[in-house]
Amino acid sequence: HPPSPPMQGSTSLRRADCRAKGGAPGFKVAILGAAGGIGQPLALLMKMNPLVSVLHLYDVVNSPGVTADVSHMDTGAVVRGFLGAPQLENALVGMDLVIIPAGVPRKPGMTRDDLFKINAGIVRTLCEGVAKCCPHAIVNLISNPVNSTVPIAAEVFKKAGIYDPKRLLGVTTLDVVRANTFVAEVLGIDPREVNVPVVGGHSGVTILPLLSQVKPPCSFTSEEIYHLTNRIQNGGTEVVEAKAGAGSATLSMAFAAAKFADACLRGLRGDAGIVECAFVASQVTELPFFASKVRLGRGGAEEIFPLGPLSEYERAGLDKAKEELAGSIEKGVSFIRK
Ligand code: NAD
Ligand code: LMR
Repeated sequence: HPPSPPMQGSTSLRRADCRAKGGAPGFKVAILGAAGGIGQPLALLMKMNPLVSVLHLYDVVNSPGVTADVSHMDTGAVVRGFLGAPQLENALVGMDLVIIPAGVPRKPGMTRDDLFKINAGIVRTLCEGVAKCCPHAIVNLISNPVNSTVPIAAEVFKKAGIYDPKRLLGVTTLDVVRANTFVAEVLGIDPREVNVPVVGGHSGVTILPLLSQVKPPCSFTSEEIYHLTNRIQNGGTEVVEAKAGAGSATLSMAFAAAKFADACLRGLRGDAGIVECAFVASQVTELPFFASKVRLGRGGAEEIFPLGPLSEYERAGLDKAKEELAGSIEKGVSFIRK
């Protein structure tokens, strides 16, 4: 922080000075789509995160109400609201981390790819804003279909000449959260003790849980592997059907997004050994993007880990995942290139 100006006798100045002298680490975080089903609980969780000093809440509707509400929480982050396209740039200037849950969710009977028509354009516009106003920010992309929206974002950033693949991360944490929960249920243990790597992408068969690499080490019957893989791959649909037209996962997603954002912020702070799964530009397979374990650091996804030894079942799953992923990635890329 620069040296504080001399006191002018104003209470607010004195208070600002005290806060600055505290030297607490703080990052500036924006949520785009902050008034939505995910955005609102995510805003609440990020306002509770001690690593956040400034929280910008942007949406095309209702952001003033969400901002007023969240801003009354007596935690450290200063909250500011931004409404509509003319305020997008102000929402983004100076941000360290931009989290994007903007876009329409599924209804029963839809695939995530059915959302492409609407969400592709939303993601393009928001990423153009990021490229212009905070080109060095880490981006956590939640809007579906993630397998296509991440390639869209990459193309937008390339066009703007600011693309750094390490800073663009598709959020697949909900798949890991679900996998941990469902595996713990089968094993009869606390889900907080379980860690299941989930690789590939974020849709149907592209969601590939590596049950052979569960920590703590354990073994499953073939029936358990089949049941667990299917439940993890269809976790999103399970929620969409239970909500019966009222949207898709919002609360568990906000939890997952807050967990992932916290890991990104700890990485930015320079903490060692922060490893999470994410959908990133990758050389782990022949595909240009793939979800796998990544090490988060000051530059974003600083290291991308290989898949490790796979079971025969997982190798077959990997082939199916790659086939579907290739098409979804290409669809995203050509949306911007054509
Ligand atoms: P929602 O409809 O409740 O909220 C979306 C919000 O985005 C709304 O407030 C809307 O006003 C806003 N929005 C729309 N266009 C915008 C724009 N141009 N700029 C800024 N904001 C805009 O939906 P939701 O349940 O919060 O889901 C949001 C997205 O997240 C969906 O695409 C959904 O499929 C996806 N999702 C992803 C995961 C994942 O694991 N990655 C999990 C759950 C949901
Ligand atoms: C999820 O996995 O819950 C999200 O991708 C939302 C959806 O459409 O299933």
